Amino acid sequence: RTPLSIAVDGPSGSGKSSVSKAVARSLGLAYLDTGAMYRAATLWVVREGVDFDDQSAVAAAVRAMPLVQTLDPVDPGVALAGQDVAEAIRSEDVTRVVSRVATNLDVRAELRRRQREIIDGETRPGGYSAGRGIVAEGRDITTVVAPDADVRILLTASEESRLARRSLEVRGTADAESVAAMRDQVLRRDRDDSTVTEFTVAADGVVTLDSSDLDFDQTVAAALQIVSRAA
Ligand code: C5P
Repeated sequence: RTPLSIAVDGPSGSGKSSVSKAVARSLGLAYLDTGAMYRAATLWVVREGVDFDDQSAVAAAVRAMPLVQTLDPVDPGVALAGQDVAEAIRSEDVTRVVSRVATNLDVRAELRRRQREIIDGETRPGGYSAGRGIVAEGRDITTVVAPDADVRILLTASEESRLARRSLEVRGTADAESVAAMRDQVLRRDRDDSTVTEFTVAADGVVTLDSSDLDFDQTVAAALQIVSRAA
C-alpha cells in the first residue's frame, strides 16, 4: 500500500479537526493539527515574556520553541518543553491572540518547515503511522504547506452552522445568547487569519465539502468518499 497524504483546510467551526481525526482513525493514518502549532507558539511567546509587537523577537522565540506533538488521531498530544499543554492552548486567552502570532510571516515560515518535515516523515517508513500516511489540517495546508497532497479538501459550512458548532464546543450550548457572544470573536479571527491565508475559496484541484446540512457522521462519510475517489 502506498502512503497517503490528505490535506484539509477550513475556517473555525467548520468541523475540520473532528472530521480530520475521524478520517485518520478510519484509515489508520497519523493526524497533524497545525492550528495546535500556532496555538502552542502563542502560548510559548506569552510564557517567554516576549513582546507581541516585536516581530523579530516573536519569530526567534518560535524558532527555538521545544514543541513535540504526538500524531495519534484518538489522543493527539501537544507538549511544550516536556509539559502537556493540549488543554492550555485551547484557552480563551490563547484563542484571542493567536492570529497575531499566526500573521507573523517568519513564524509561518518556521511552522511551515516543521509541518512539511512531519508530513514527509509520515509518508516514509517509520514514524507514527509506519509510513501509512497522514491527515494534516489547518488553513493553508491544501495551498501552501502540502499542495501536492494526494487528496485535498476544503471543509466549509454556513456562518450560522459554524457559529453554532463553535458555541457548542466552547460553551457547551448553542442557544441564541451563546451564539451571539461567540459571533464577534469567531468572525474577527477568520478575518484576521484571512489576511495571510485563503481558506474560503477552494484552490484548483481542491474539493469543497460543504457540511452545513450534514451531521458529523455524514460529513465523515462524505470526506472518506472524496478520499476513495481520489486515491
Ligand atoms: O484551527 P485552530 O482554530 O485551532 O487554529 C488556531 C489559529 O492558528 C487560527 O486562528 C490561525 O490563526 C492559525 N492557523 C494558521 N494556519 C494554519 C492553522 C492555523 O494560521 N494552517
